[in-house]
Amino acid sequence: MKPRGPLMIEHRLIEKMLKIVGRELAIITRDRVVDPVFIDTIVDFIRTYADRTHHGKEEDILFRELEKKDLDSKDRQGMRELIDEHVSARKTVRELVEATAGYAGGDAAAIDVIIARLSFLIDFYPVHIRKEDRVFFPDTEKYFSDDELEEMLDEFWEFDRKMIHEKYSGLYDSLSKRYG
Ligand SMILES: [Fe+2]
Ligand SMILES: [Fe+2]
Repeated sequence: MKPRGPLMIEHRLIEKMLKIVGRELAIITRDRVVDPVFIDTIVDFIRTYADRTHHGKEEDILFRELEKKDLDSKDRQGMRELIDEHVSARKTVRELVEATAGYAGGDAAAIDVIIARLSFLIDFYPVHIRKEDRVFFPDTEKYFSDDELEEMLDEFWEFDRKMIHEKYSGLYDSLSKRYG
C-alpha cells in the first residue's frame, strides 16, 4: 500500500459521518432544536479523527516530506490551499463549539450559527477530499522513491498507534485540572 491508501480509507469514513451530520442538520433546521450531545460527538470525531489523526498525517508527515522536494508551482500551490483549508475547518469547528455553548446557555439565536457551521463542514469536506484523492495525492507521488513511500507509510502507522494514548492522556490532563 502507498501512503495515500490509509488517507483515502479515512476519507471514506469522514464522508459517511458527514452524511449523518447532514441528516441531523435537516432535523435541526426543521425543528429549531439542537442536541448538544450530538454536536459534542461530531466535534470529537472531527477534532480527533478528521483533524488530529487524518490532517495530522497529511501535515506532519506527507506535507513535511513534500516540503523537502522541488515541487512544481501547481503542486506547491495545491499544498498551500490544502493547508489553508485545514485551518478554515479548524476555525469552523471552534465557532461551532462556541455557538453550541451559547445555545446551551440560553442563546436561542446561536442555532443559526450552528446551522451555518454544520452546513459549511458538510459542503467543505467532500470538495477538499476530492481535491486530495483525485489531484493532489496522485500528482505528488512522483516526487518520492518506493523506499520513501514505504518509510512514510511506516511513519503513518506509528503516528496512528500513538493517537489513542494521546487522546486519553489529554482527557486525563484536562480532568485532573478540574479535579485537582
Ligand atoms: Fe486534507
Ligand atoms: Fe485528507
